[in-house]
Amino acid sequence: MSRIETLSVALGERSYDIVVGPDLISNAAQLIAPLIDHEPAIIITDDNVAGYHLGSLNDSLKSAGITSTVITLPAGEITKGYDGFQGLLTAILDTGPERRSTLIALGGGVIGDITGFAASVVLRGLDFIQIPTTLLAQVDSSVGGKTGINTQHGKNLVGSFYQPRMVLADTGALNTLPRRELLAGYAEVAKYGLLGDKVFFEWLEKNGKALIDGNDTLRQQAVIKSCSAKAEIVGRDEKEAGDRALLNLGHTFGHALEAETGFGEKLLHGEAVAIGMIMAFDLSAQIGLCPIEDATRVRTHLKAIGLPVQPTDISGQRWDSAALLGHMGQDKKVREGKITFILTRGIGDAFITSDIDMSDVEALLDRAIAA
Ligand SMILES: NC(=O)c1ccc[n+]([C@@H]2O[C@H](COP(=O)([O-])OP(=O)(O)OC[C@H]3O[C@@H](n4cnc5c(N)ncnc54)[C@H](O)[C@@H]3O)[C@@H](O)[C@H]2O)c1
Ligand SMILES: [Zn+2]
Repeated sequence: MSRIETLSVALGERSYDIVVGPDLISNAAQLIAPLIDHEPAIIITDDNVAGYHLGSLNDSLKSAGITSTVITLPAGEITKGYDGFQGLLTAILDTGPERRSTLIALGGGVIGDITGFAASVVLRGLDFIQIPTTLLAQVDSSVGGKTGINTQHGKNLVGSFYQPRMVLADTGALNTLPRRELLAGYAEVAKYGLLGDKVFFEWLEKNGKALIDGNDTLRQQAVIKSCSAKAEIVGRDEKEAGDRALLNLGHTFGHALEAETGFGEKLLHGEAVAIGMIMAFDLSAQIGLCPIEDATRVRTHLKAIGLPVQPTDISGQRWDSAALLGHMGQDKKVREGKITFILTRGIGDAFITSDIDMSDVEALLDRAIAA
C-alpha cells in the first residue's frame, strides 16, 4: 500500500483511527483484522456500491482468512427509515450475531448512518467499522459518531451517538462516484475552510477543480484536511453542547431548502449546503458582520466548481420565503423558540449565534429567491 495516512479521533477509550488512502478497500483485511473478534464479519452495503466495491472487500477478507456475510440494502435515502431499519435489524439477527460481532458499513452516508445506529442497539452494542465510499461520507458522516434514521417528523430524528472502531476512507472508491455526488460532497469539504481555515479555502480555490476532475493526491489531501478538522471539533465537543454546531454552517438554510424540495434527487444535501453557506455569508454581510468581498468570493468559488449557488439554480422549483422560514423554525437546533445560526466574520471565521433579527433573515430569503 502506498501513500496512506492515519489520523485519530481522540475520545478516550472510544478513540479510533481514520485511515485515508487510495487502495484501502482491496487491502482492508490487513487494517481491520485486529478488530474482528468474532466471525463472520457482517458487511452492510447498498446495491449500487455492491456492484463496484464489494468484490474487492470480500476478496481482501477472504485472502486474510476472515469469513464474512453480506446484507445488501436498496440504494437511496428511502432505506434510512423505520422499515429499512427493521429490515436491517432482522437481517443482522438472522446471521446469529454475538456481542463481539463487527458490522462493516460499506457505502455512503445512508449506509453509514443506518449501520451505526443498528450497531448501537443490536445486542445492546456491536462494534462497527466505517468504509465510506462517497466524498460526503468520507469527509463528514463517517466521522464523529452521529448515527440515525429519518422519521415522518423529519430527518435523522431517531438515532444515537455511537463511535466506529475505525474509518477506512479509500479515495480510489471516489472514481466510481457520479460527478454530481462528488460535487455535493465537495460542499462539505469547502465548509471546513469556510468555518475555520482560510488557508485551506485558499488551497481549494487553487486545487478544487483538479480535485473534482480526478486528481487522487489532491482528493486525499482534501479528505485528510477535512477529517482532521472534524476530528478536532468532535474531540472537543462530541455531543454538540457547543462548538460542534459550527459544523452546521449553511445547514439551517440548507435543510429548509431540502425540506421544500422533499429531501430527494431534486436537491442533494451537499447542494443545499452550498447554497446555505452562501446565504449564511450573504446574511453576515447584509448585517455588517462580514466583508461583502468574502461573500462574493465564496459564491464565485462554489459556482466555478459547478455547484448551485442560489435557490433559483434549482429548475422547476417555486420558492416561498414564509415556507422556508417555517422549516427553519422546526430545525433540530431551535432552542426555546430561537433559531441557531452559524454566521461569519469572514472566510475561516464562523461563530454560533441565536441573536438574529428574523426580519433580516426574511429580507435575505426574499432576495435569494428573487435572484
Ligand atoms: N452522521 C452524520 O454525521 C452525517 C453527516 C452528514 C450527512 N449524513 C447523512 O448522510 C446521508 C447522505 O450521504 P451520501 O451523500 O453519502 O448519500 P448516499 O449514501 O445515498 O450515497 C449517494 C449515492 O451514491 C451511491 N454511491 C455511494 N458510493 C458510491 C461509489 N463509490 N460509486 C458509485 N456510487 C456510489 C449510493 O448508492 C447512492 O446512490 C444522509 O442521509 C445524511 O443525513 C450524516
Ligand atoms: Zn451536511
